[in-house]
Amino acid sequence: MSSSPSSRPTSETRLSLSHITAQNETNLLGTVHGGVIMTLVDSVAGVVAARHSGGPAVTASMDEMVFLVPVRVGDVVHFSAQVNWTGRSSMEVGVRITADRWDAVGPQMHVASAYLVFVAVDEDGKPREVPQVVPVTDEDRRRLREAEIRRSHRLARRAAIIASREQSGEEADEGGGR
Ligand SMILES: CC(C)(COP(=O)(O)OP(=O)(O)OC[C@H]1O[C@@H](n2cnc3c(N)ncnc32)[C@H](O)[C@@H]1OP(=O)(O)O)[C@@H](O)C(=O)NCCC(=O)NCCS
Repeated sequence: MSSSPSSRPTSETRLSLSHITAQNETNLLGTVHGGVIMTLVDSVAGVVAARHSGGPAVTASMDEMVFLVPVRVGDVVHFSAQVNWTGRSSMEVGVRITADRWDAVGPQMHVASAYLVFVAVDEDGKPREVPQVVPVTDEDRRRLREAEIRRSHRLARRAAIIASREQSGEEADEGGGR
């Protein structure tokens, strides 16, 4: 594992991946399976998290992901990922997914946006500290502010679910997300 600085700018670990969708990636309707897109989202975000933290990082959670337009076989899907926010050992990675139709020239389509929390781990799988992300552009600063809002909502939702289960006498688990 390489040693990490105490902070790292967003621009240093931002990553883009493009993928030409294939026939074996379809659902029953003949469009591209959402799970294919989600796998690529998790993969590209995982690389960004590992690069930012200088070592392994595991997916802790993924927020709701809304698909805005269907992707067709042959379309070229682009994934742009960057670290939006860092905590002590966790990082929010944002992924913007866009697509170009394979058979037409037109404006690029916004397919979806996804927000994932990764936790950097050591050899024993225990959380380890990550460099603080340094926003570079106004866009980065907006993403950082919005990531803080999502983080506070995750914490509030988890606390509310635990409180509700405690009230009803059910066992509280970790499923509420952080
Ligand atoms: C993620 C994991 C390492 C956290 O371990 P943990 O013992 O709960 O760690 P802690 O309670 O000390 O929390 C560590 C950090 O993770 C964050 N975290 C833990 N669970 C989280 C969740 N569900 N959502 C978002 N953040 C989470 C905490 O907020 C904390 O962040 P901070 O250090 O920046 O403040 C552990 O739950 C794990 O290994 N999960 C499985 C991950 C995995 O295998 N993913 C692939 C799926 S197959």
